[in-house]
Amino acid sequence: MRFAISLALLATVATSVRAAPSVITSDLSSVQGKDFDYVIVGGGLTGLAVANRLSEDPNVSVLVLEAGNDNRQDGRVKSIYAYGQAFGSELDWSWQATGSKTIRGGKTLGGSTSINGGAWTRGSKEQYEAIANLGNSGWSYEDLTKYMNKAEGFSPPSSAQSRLGAKYDPVVHGSDGPVKTMFSDPGSSSSRRSVGAGQEALERRMYSGAQQSDFLSSIKTALGVNVIDDLSSAKIDGAAYTPNSILNLAGDRTSSATAYLSPIEFSRSNLAVLTGYRGTRIKWDPNNPGKAIGVVVQQYQNGPKSHVNAKREVVLAAGAINTPLLLQRSGVGSKSDLASIGVNQVIDLPGVGKNLQEQTMNTLGARTTIDYGGKGPSNMIAMPSIYELMSNATDVKNYINSNLQGWAQQMVNQGHAVNTQGLINQWKQAVSNIFDSRAPVSELFFDSGYPANSLGIDAWYLLPFSRGSVRASSYDAFSAPNLNPNYFSLPIDMDMTVATLRGARKIFKTQPLAGLTTKGETQPGFSVVPDNVNQGGYRWWRAWVLGISGGGFNSVSHPIATCSMMPEAMGGVVDPNFKLYRSQNVRIVDASVLPVQLSAHLSSTLYGIAEKAADTIKGSST
Ligand SMILES: Cc1cc2nc3c(=O)[nH]c(=O)nc-3n(C[C@H](O)[C@H](O)[C@H](O)COP(=O)(O)OP(=O)(O)OC[C@H]3O[C@@H](n4cnc5c(N)ncnc54)[C@H](O)[C@@H]3O)c2cc1C
Ligand SMILES: *[C@@H]1O[C@H](CO)[C@@H](O)[C@H](O)[C@H]1NC(C)=O
Ligand SMILES: *[C@@H]1O[C@H](CO)[C@@H](O)[C@H](O)[C@H]1NC(C)=O
Repeated sequence: MRFAISLALLATVATSVRAAPSVITSDLSSVQGKDFDYVIVGGGLTGLAVANRLSEDPNVSVLVLEAGNDNRQDGRVKSIYAYGQAFGSELDWSWQATGSKTIRGGKTLGGSTSINGGAWTRGSKEQYEAIANLGNSGWSYEDLTKYMNKAEGFSPPSSAQSRLGAKYDPVVHGSDGPVKTMFSDPGSSSSRRSVGAGQEALERRMYSGAQQSDFLSSIKTALGVNVIDDLSSAKIDGAAYTPNSILNLAGDRTSSATAYLSPIEFSRSNLAVLTGYRGTRIKWDPNNPGKAIGVVVQQYQNGPKSHVNAKREVVLAAGAINTPLLLQRSGVGSKSDLASIGVNQVIDLPGVGKNLQEQTMNTLGARTTIDYGGKGPSNMIAMPSIYELMSNATDVKNYINSNLQGWAQQMVNQGHAVNTQGLINQWKQAVSNIFDSRAPVSELFFDSGYPANSLGIDAWYLLPFSRGSVRASSYDAFSAPNLNPNYFSLPIDMDMTVATLRGARKIFKTQPLAGLTTKGETQPGFSVVPDNVNQGGYRWWRAWVLGISGGGFNSVSHPIATCSMMPEAMGGVVDPNFKLYRSQNVRIVDASVLPVQLSAHLSSTLYGIAEKAADTIKGSST
């Protein structure tokens, strides 16, 4: 707490006396020609966290390159209640993936944390241990928990929030870190009523309507999912009220920009953040291949190319889609990927852009006329294990194990994995997590008022076995990539998805929640997916998921693993110290290094990874 207060004080004093200009600039000439110790590409979640920590040492100079602009005061960014308003705008990369699906990512200071939903959860203990088990020494649950907690500034629930169901596990929240998290506004009993006509006028406050506790009762009865205190705990199969990454009860968003940049904006003369420029490729020392000496930057397509200088290291934090593209344009990747864009190979690293893991989501809805008792953000999430969604879990385990070799070969043949062994190692961790330690396989995100006038369940399978890839389509850094998440390429992913949707349907059919709906499930509804004793036939659900019978899945926009932290021989791209293999001084610190997916929203984990990366970089530079 002392740290946070002193930073806030510094910022206030600096602002009031105008002691120093903002570190944020859109003027290239102010940073060009200067020698920075570190150049960080990407001013998103991980980039700004690392920039803040590295620039704590006044003797170290840091430059961040951010493709987007500074939109901290933009209404679409500032409030968590504006969730969704930035989608498809200039604040969103809106990558087009195969199958006409859109993957979203923030193109603005703070990156995806400036447009995300603010749900705050973590993976299970064993899923973090899987990172170590994949060959990453120095990684452990305890170590990463320490760093996740270092990032976080959690406010425990007030008594009013506790009365509405908020609980927490103090072991898995930090209280002194810059990333402010808390439960949303509990409101007061007098503000319970609607303040105008229609639900849009309902107060912005933590939902207090009957649907909240009824969801918990129904999921227990329908699926046997227990209520737990906290979805950030070591064991997370259960349902809980969840906190958000918000600054205050008014619902102002906590982004990596508000957390790691705003407090030091006027007090770090050794830090510069250049907005509106893309890092297009690494500039290598012509006499020393593998040694980065800077980054090429460009403001707009076909615009002039300049460069900025890095004396010590180049740190890539452009996110799981753009970091591998930048590497490919820098000559790092497989020979064929580079040849297709006319780039000479500098480092032969075929894992770049492969092993992409992205999730798919469908929303069930049931019409209702109840007063939700507030207007969000949603704060109720259930994370069922496989045993709660499938009665034949043991058969499924055997089925998966007997197919690993064939599936891995398929992924390699399709160009999405480097070799079978690397993938089988990942899948063995997943099988152990899912079946032995009950890591949740699915998320059921409970919505009040979405779909419109309905109770909703955003349902997604969290741990796809399918792997995809991202490849630059041209040397032009402003060209769209070939992005193929390879959704549902392995039948197990559809099996898990159908089981998840059946589980969601069953919840809506179960009292007391069923009693709050006007006529039960309306999306997709029983005419689109006819009901039966199994909660609907497989082929009907599949048709709805794929959009053959209306509906159609959305991408969850949680892409990871395109520059995985794994041994090089297993298709890895960075070592346990975030170092790009066979480079001298390039690190990757963003979501692309996370080698396997978690049963969680990603930001708490990635803040922890960024804190760990900053310590690693500091430690090895002395
Ligand atoms: C729509 C949406 C909803 C989400 N909801 C949640 C949620 O509720 N809870 C949660 O915990 N997580 C959520 N997430 C996930 C989480 O926000 C991301 O996983 C996380 O921000 C990724 O961190 P990153 O540092 O890898 O990338 P980002 O935070 O995306 O940052 C990458 C930055 O690099 C910049 N950049 C990219 N290319 C270049 C380039 N060539 N040169 C310069 N700059 C570049 C980008 O503009 C961006 O600012 C959500 C994500 C999205 C997209
Ligand atoms: C910064 O460098 C100066 C001169 O080399 C040195 O005296 C000082 O101790 C350094 N400060 C830090 C925080 O390392
Ligand atoms: C498990 O049960 C589901 C639902 O009945 C079925 O679709 C699937 O084929 C079964 N899996 C195995 C491996 O038996």
